Amino acid sequence: MKQVRLGVIGCGGMARAHMRYFNTIPGLVFAAAADNFSANLDLVTEEHGVEGFTDGMKLIKSGSVDAIMICTPHYFHPDLSIAGMKAGLHVLTEKPVAVTAHEAARVEKVHAKHPGLVYAAMFQIRAHPLWQRIRRTLHNGELGCIQRVNWIVTNWFRTMAYYNQAEWRATWKGEGGGVLLNQCPHNLDLLCWLLGSPSEVRAFLSLGKYHHIEVEDEVTAYMTWNGQKKGLIHPKGATGVFVTTTGESPGTDRLEIVGDRGKLVLEDGKLAITQTHESVMQYCVETDEAFGQPGRDEITIATGGDDPGHRVVTANFIEAIQKPVTPLICSGQDGLAELELGNAMLYSGLIHEPVKIPMRRAAFDKHLKNLIAKSKFKKGKIRKAKVDMDKSFH
Ligand SMILES: NC(=O)c1ccc[n+]([C@@H]2O[C@H](COP(=O)([O-])OP(=O)(O)OC[C@H]3O[C@@H](n4cnc5c(N)ncnc54)[C@H](O)[C@@H]3O)[C@@H](O)[C@H]2O)c1
Repeated sequence: MKQVRLGVIGCGGMARAHMRYFNTIPGLVFAAAADNFSANLDLVTEEHGVEGFTDGMKLIKSGSVDAIMICTPHYFHPDLSIAGMKAGLHVLTEKPVAVTAHEAARVEKVHAKHPGLVYAAMFQIRAHPLWQRIRRTLHNGELGCIQRVNWIVTNWFRTMAYYNQAEWRATWKGEGGGVLLNQCPHNLDLLCWLLGSPSEVRAFLSLGKYHHIEVEDEVTAYMTWNGQKKGLIHPKGATGVFVTTTGESPGTDRLEIVGDRGKLVLEDGKLAITQTHESVMQYCVETDEAFGQPGRDEITIATGGDDPGHRVVTANFIEAIQKPVTPLICSGQDGLAELELGNAMLYSGLIHEPVKIPMRRAAFDKHLKNLIAKSKFKKGKIRKAKVDMDKSFH
């Protein structure tokens, strides 16, 4: 089996979590690491005995690796991906693949010129058995045409100590967004993976409502799917609501998807699927019962399942390099859809208008650049949340 020499760029918390399982993946040889913060680099080179570089670009040009895993803050993901591809390296990037859809598309263009290279993204939740089951249910048409999706995902609670961990976090300049860009990419990816991208979004958001940060920490978005694209499973007019925040505890994680032949609910790791005996719309127009409801069966209650986590995506990446016919769990190209949805929600909330998808990427980029240019925010000075909850909510 072909050995793949892997270099990791960015040696922070996530990278070090990945490194713990590297020796369990056949064919993966952890060969090098890079970080421009020497304390983090030293931790890794000492523990794993790998070659160290103080700059990701030096690692890319070193000739010591066949593939790179990018675990830096998000803004660096596209440039490192592109440099890696241009140097003939396979690329596995942490989520999000970039900060803006425009940047993600730039990487795609370069990848199109190097089709022999594997370009994958770390959206590991796709591999979980419950999510695989949900996707099969929808794509087999078990719920009929999809009418509505509601996802309350407010269990992303984060403290100020979390945001103060690193300068880049929760700033326009260092991160490019808040809960939509850091915590929610997995949720947004799953939405797009299950249902396809919405056609339009109108979002309402609050910037630094619960934390001393300048980016969004609370979002409520209304989405519509117009069903125009071929192969989509929703009819014209399916709607969705997505609610998220990092300021609530205890949080909720409840997904409800309703179709013309039933519904599924995923909450607390428990999946319940109910199927109706006939089309609800047909029953609605044909029955003589004023308060009747179509018969139904609860067909599945599935719980838990082993969480294959990050390891399975990395193993899939290595296997795709070794055996190019291997389908990727999540390609880098797939990472564009969730990013565009997150960008569209953020942009809509900032300009107080609905935003169509695909969005006007240049207009969003300009808006983000302005936010960065105008920012006078000093992070880390106040450790206490600025909101006095007693005064605010009584
Ligand atoms: N897939 C997941 O479930 C998951 C979970 C957590 C984080 N992440 C992603 O992983 C990435 C890193 O997050 P983290 O929590 O490890 O952050 P972190 O701040 O702990 O680590 C980032 C590291 O990158 C280094 N760095 C910064 N700029 C660099 C550059 N230009 N070249 C080389 N090194 C550089 C920093 O010194 C630091 O050591 C983020 O994009 C985040 O969204 C993914």
